[in-house]
Amino acid sequence: VQVEDYGSSILGRLQDLFKTAISQAYPRFDVPLLLAETPNPQFGDYQCNSAMPIAAKLKSTGVNKKPGDVGQEIFAKLPKSIEFIDKITVMPAGFINIFLNQEYIKKQISNLAANGIQLPKIAKRRVLVDFSSPNIAKEMHVGHLRSTIIGDSICRLLEAVGFDVLRINHIGDWGTQFGMLIAHLYDRFPDFETKMPDISDLQAFYKESKKRFDEDEVFKKRAYECVVKLQSHEKDIVKAWTTICDVSKKYNQIVYNQLDIKIKDVGESFYQDKMIDLVKWIKENKPGQLQEDEGRQIMFPSECEVPLTVVKSDGGFTYDTSDLAALKYRIFEEKCDWAIYVVDAGQSLHLETVFAAGRDFGWYDESVKRIEHVAFGLVLGEDRKKFKTRSGETVRLLDLLSEGVKRASEKLKEKGRDQVMTEEELNEARDAVAFGCVKYADLSHTRTQDYVFSFDRMLDDRGNTAVYLLYAYARIRSIVRTSGIQQEQIAEYIRNTPILPLNHQAEMKLSKHLLKLADCVLQVVDSLMLHQMCDYVYQLATLFHDFYNECYVIEKKEGEAPIVHFHRLALCEVTANVISTCFKILGIREVPKM
Ligand code: ARG
Repeated sequence: VQVEDYGSSILGRLQDLFKTAISQAYPRFDVPLLLAETPNPQFGDYQCNSAMPIAAKLKSTGVNKKPGDVGQEIFAKLPKSIEFIDKITVMPAGFINIFLNQEYIKKQISNLAANGIQLPKIAKRRVLVDFSSPNIAKEMHVGHLRSTIIGDSICRLLEAVGFDVLRINHIGDWGTQFGMLIAHLYDRFPDFETKMPDISDLQAFYKESKKRFDEDEVFKKRAYECVVKLQSHEKDIVKAWTTICDVSKKYNQIVYNQLDIKIKDVGESFYQDKMIDLVKWIKENKPGQLQEDEGRQIMFPSECEVPLTVVKSDGGFTYDTSDLAALKYRIFEEKCDWAIYVVDAGQSLHLETVFAAGRDFGWYDESVKRIEHVAFGLVLGEDRKKFKTRSGETVRLLDLLSEGVKRASEKLKEKGRDQVMTEEELNEARDAVAFGCVKYADLSHTRTQDYVFSFDRMLDDRGNTAVYLLYAYARIRSIVRTSGIQQEQIAEYIRNTPILPLNHQAEMKLSKHLLKLADCVLQVVDSLMLHQMCDYVYQLATLFHDFYNECYVIEKKEGEAPIVHFHRLALCEVTANVISTCFKILGIREVPKM
C-alpha cells in the first residue's frame, strides 16, 4: 500500500527516515530495516538494530567496521532535527535508541481531542473481498461463520482507510446438485410456485434428496433431467431453483442481520455464460493449455502439481471453472487492484492453482495487482476436535447465535446489571455481548491457526475478550457522563488549551499507545491479521486502567469542592474514541452502558 499521510503514526515516519538514511549511508546494500519498539524505556521508545547485519555484510565484502561505527554512520545521515524526536543515541554495540519528544506527543493527543480520530491516508484502491460464500441448501456452517467475521472486518478496515470495497458473496448456487434438490422440491412442495415452502431445516432437505438420489434410479434420472433443463433456462425449473436459493438466502440473511454484515450476492450462477466464454477464450488465445484427460479438459498451470478441471467429461463445468471465470471477471470487469479471498485454509491449493492459471494467461502481474487467499484455520470444539453438536451434527449457526444471546443474558444478570439498567439498555448490551464475543473470539486468534470455540472463555470478563472491552469502554464513557461536567465544557477547555498537560508518566504511556492506532491500522492493512488490532485495543484498555488507578480525573477532598482535571477528561474521551474506532473495524457494537 502507498501511504499518503501517516496521520499520528510515528513508526511509519521513523521507518521512512531510517530507510532513507541507511540507503544513503550504504547505497549498495539491501538490508531489511530492523526497527521496533523497545520494552525498556531506558533504551528509548524505539530501537533500530540494522547496524549489526550491515556490519556483517560489510565484513563479507572484506570491510571491517564495528557495528557501533555503522550505527554512527546511519545516525549521521538522519536529519539533524526531527520534530517528534527528542534524542537519538548510538550504543557501542550498534543499537540506535530513539527517544520521542513528549511535547510532540502532547500536541498530537491535543489534536485528536480537538479534531477527532484520524486514520492514516492511503492511496485509494479498488478491493474486492470474497467472503462468507456459503453453499445453497447446505447450511452455512462455522467455517462460513469464520469467513463472514474475518471478511467483514477486513472490509470495515479497508473502508475506514478510504478504499473502494466490493463485498462479494460467492455463494455456491450452481452445479449438478441442484438437479436432485429441484426434483425433490417438486415432490415435497408441489405448490411451491404459489407458496414459499417452509423448509425450516435445509440440511435435512438436502439429505433427503441426496438419499433418494443415491438409492432411487428413477429419481436420479429425473434429477439429471432437471439439471439439463436448468442449464437451458427452462422457466419452471428456473423458478424451482430460485425458490431453493431464496429459502436458503432467507436463512442466511437472519445470520447476517444479527451480525451486522453487508454483502452482495454474486454467486457461482452469475458466471454461467462467462464460463462458456472462458473456455472459448482459452481455446482461441491460449491454444495448448487445455489437455484431454479421459474425456475431461484439464490444465496444469506453471509450478502446480494438481490440474484444474475446466470441462468435465459430460461437458459441464466445475468449481475450478467458475473460479477461473470469476477471477477474469474481477480483474477485467470489476477492475480490482486487489482481490482478497477469505476462504478456509483447506482450499489453499485450489485457489493458488486458479491464481497461477490467471498469471499464465497474462491476466495480471503480481507486482501491480494483489490477488490473495486470506486463509483461516478450523473451528474446533472444546474437545479440540471438529466443532459438532453433541449428537455429531453440524452446528446450525442460528442455534449457535441464540445460545450466545442466552449466555450473554445470564452473564449480565450474574453481574447484577438487570438491577441498574432499563430493559432496552439490557437488551442492547446483551446483543452487543453475544455477537461481539463470537466475533472477537474469532478475530483475536491468529487467523491462520485453528481455534477452539468456547462460550465460557469468550464470555470471561477478565481476559482478552469482547466482554472485558465492552465493560472497559462503558466505564470510560461513564467517567465523563457521571463527572457532572458537560461535553461542551470539555470541548471549550480543549479549544483553549493547545497543549494538554499530560505530564504524569501514566498519562504519557497511555498517550503514546493512543498514537499507535495509526501504526496498528497500517500494519493490519498489510497483514490482514486482525488479532493485531485486538491485541492493540486490549493493551489500550489495560493502559487506561493503569492510568485511571494512578491519576485522579475528579479529585474529591473532604469539605472542599472537587477538583476537575479537565485534561484527563479529555484523555478519557480520546481513549473512548480510539476504542470506538477499533470496535467499528472489528464489527463490535458499542454500548454506552453495561
Ligand atoms: N462456497 C465455497 C465453500 O463453501 C466457498 C467459496 C469461496 N470463494 C471462492 N471464490 N472460491 O467451500
